[in-house]
Amino acid sequence: MNRAAPAILFAFPEFRRMARELVRSPGMVEGRFRADRYGNGEWHVSLGADVAGKECVVLGTVTPPADSMVALGILVHTLKKEGARRITALLPYLAYARADKDHERESMGAAWLGGFLASSGVDEVVTVDLHSDRDRVLFPIPIVSLSPATLFARAFGGRRLRDAVVVAPDRGAIPRCEAARTALGILRPAAYFEKHRHGRRMTQCGPFGDVGETAILIDDIFDTGMTLSLAVRALRKRGVRSIFVAATHGLFTDLKFRPDSVAGMVVTDTIPRTKGPPKGVKVLSVIPLLKGHFGARYA
Ligand code: R5P
Repeated sequence: MNRAAPAILFAFPEFRRMARELVRSPGMVEGRFRADRYGNGEWHVSLGADVAGKECVVLGTVTPPADSMVALGILVHTLKKEGARRITALLPYLAYARADKDHERESMGAAWLGGFLASSGVDEVVTVDLHSDRDRVLFPIPIVSLSPATLFARAFGGRRLRDAVVVAPDRGAIPRCEAARTALGILRPAAYFEKHRHGRRMTQCGPFGDVGETAILIDDIFDTGMTLSLAVRALRKRGVRSIFVAATHGLFTDLKFRPDSVAGMVVTDTIPRTKGPPKGVKVLSVIPLLKGHFGARYA
């Protein structure tokens, strides 16, 4: 769709590299802002651009520490107050999205986050590999999810792994595994595990389905690594010799699983890092996905 004016991209400092790439594409220009603090740490935002009647995209994060989320909320609120026509929050990793189940007497972070973003002034969220479709129901605003399947397929060398079996570490991961399976040109149906959490403990049953000799485990989040570690162990017990791992969001908060113990592991760059990834992990850029999406919308 052609627009009279380009969208203005406001990016938080940790996403500067990604922002530079995005504003190289037609249809998006850089928007400047300052986020300062009062003496006690409260945020104060000033805009360096006139946004009245304009489309704005805010590139940032709601990942802990919560401070980044507060800064993002205040920036969005300021853009709205100044008359921005439409505000898209570009959150490459949508934190809290995995808290999407309604268990009695327990929080439901996804519903809370959706309310927070909408009430701050966000009209729409764009993210990579949304945790589940339940999040769309819990959010009062639309969520666009960009699939990393083609990135994973390219990273694993396309046809080289055509005889492999894609394995989902839990039932929720089956749709993303099916997307990757199609992109990889693999005909065998995906195998899967059943995962259950009991408080902080986790159990996994499976794998269900034929796994063969080469497996590609695909999940959205690598946090402590426990999910993938249990899956790798079970696959080895079933005789799988070669295991590849792909996780969209590499949080790496605690390494319960050593990435260099498998044949290959990839994550994407949705989580900005100050130091390099753990040994054995290759990082894939999501820029092609973002450019594809925003290019089609604004260019
Ligand atoms: C949960 O449903 C997610 O899809 C991931 O499987 C989970 O968050 C991974 O966490 P961890 O690496 O700590 O096992």
